[in-house]
Amino acid sequence: MNLFSEEMRRDPYPTYEQMRSSSPVLHVAPLDLWMVLDYEGVKRALTDHEAFSSAVTPVIGKAPDWLLFADPPRHTKLRAIVMRAFTARSVAGLEPRVRELSRELLDEQIERGEMDLAADYAGLLPTMVIAEMLGIPLEDRARFLRWSEAIANLSNAISGADGAERMMSEHAAAKAEMEGYLAEVLGARRRAPKDDLLTRLVDAEVDGERLTEDEILGFFQVLLAAGTETTTNLIDNAILCFLERPADLARLRGSPDLLPSAIEEVLRYRSPVQMMFREARRDVEVHGQVIPAGKLVVPVIGSANRDPQQFRDPGRFDVGRDPNPHVAFGQGIHFCLGAPLARLEARIALSDLLSRLRGLELASKEPWEPRKAFNVLGPARLPICFEPGRRSAAAG
Ligand code: HEM
Repeated sequence: MNLFSEEMRRDPYPTYEQMRSSSPVLHVAPLDLWMVLDYEGVKRALTDHEAFSSAVTPVIGKAPDWLLFADPPRHTKLRAIVMRAFTARSVAGLEPRVRELSRELLDEQIERGEMDLAADYAGLLPTMVIAEMLGIPLEDRARFLRWSEAIANLSNAISGADGAERMMSEHAAAKAEMEGYLAEVLGARRRAPKDDLLTRLVDAEVDGERLTEDEILGFFQVLLAAGTETTTNLIDNAILCFLERPADLARLRGSPDLLPSAIEEVLRYRSPVQMMFREARRDVEVHGQVIPAGKLVVPVIGSANRDPQQFRDPGRFDVGRDPNPHVAFGQGIHFCLGAPLARLEARIALSDLLSRLRGLELASKEPWEPRKAFNVLGPARLPICFEPGRRSAAAG
């Protein structure tokens, strides 16, 4: 088993199935980490924070002091600072703007009849949305994309995956750039507050103290990486699932109200985030095996979402699956803060792509190249072709 091979990163499911059916808790000796593969075990590792801490010790380097890697009580306080911006109600207010950005991005490509969905659309939309929420000008989007990839690739350092050292140094360079950039923007917000997330971070207090620049940088990085790579994969993976199944695509085109449940099924069937990280606080018994204190634990969300104990016919992609209690957004106190936003972005993106791109097909028969970050699933590039269409303004 090579966890890092391209083949595994493109389709890890046969390996998960083999591992899960032989033992739902598995010690990976070369990396000295413990994988948890079944639905119940993954839910426990994600939610039982008395036994499993989010403050992990990476195989290489040191864990950043971010919301994602914090335990209560600090986690509760950090999460409260940004929670309001991500409620279903706040996110619903973003809908017109997300629609506009999606239309503009498609307008840039639609006359060409081909594009790289990952680079030209799915990678850009979520970055532009989170940049606007933070209060950062869209002109800087190329820089953001570079930064968000460098942050997402940090997962390789946690697991000690291939290329980890190089990715650590790429992140250090990106971090230095982000520090300089933020120092300027935060100075401007202190002088002239705006109605954006950066201003909220500048004003926020934890235990009566303002956040340090380093803590603000932590938030910035979590939001940038969590808000982009993941939703990009959701959109790309959805298009892959639909194009592989023409009957489902036709069904969706005929009944667009199936789209929300189709999105949930993509989240389950090709989970954009495949794994998270925890550390055993003490010796913890799971399914009769003892994970020793201090060891890195990897709840494999992608495998849990295909567990036959939980899902009927888990290898079948079913756009109408109901119920669908997948754990693609995690579970418990760290449940994805951005879930309502990701769902909104995916709904708008996919309804635009399906309604505007006629004759949509994959442009290459080659197996797609997986993204670099260790714990995500999705293509680095996804060339597609379609009948050239008209820009929305021209279409009237
Ligand atoms: C399809 C898209 C997405 C997926 C699959 C996803 C998945 C996840 C998962 C599995 C977690 C739990 C981590 C854990 O338990 O350790 C998480 C946490 C988080 N997500 Fe998402 N996410 C997505 C989109 C977003 C978006 C759009 C944002 C915001 C802009 C976001 C922000 C966050 C934040 C801030 C956390 C940390 C919450 C905490 O630690 O309390 N995510 N996400």
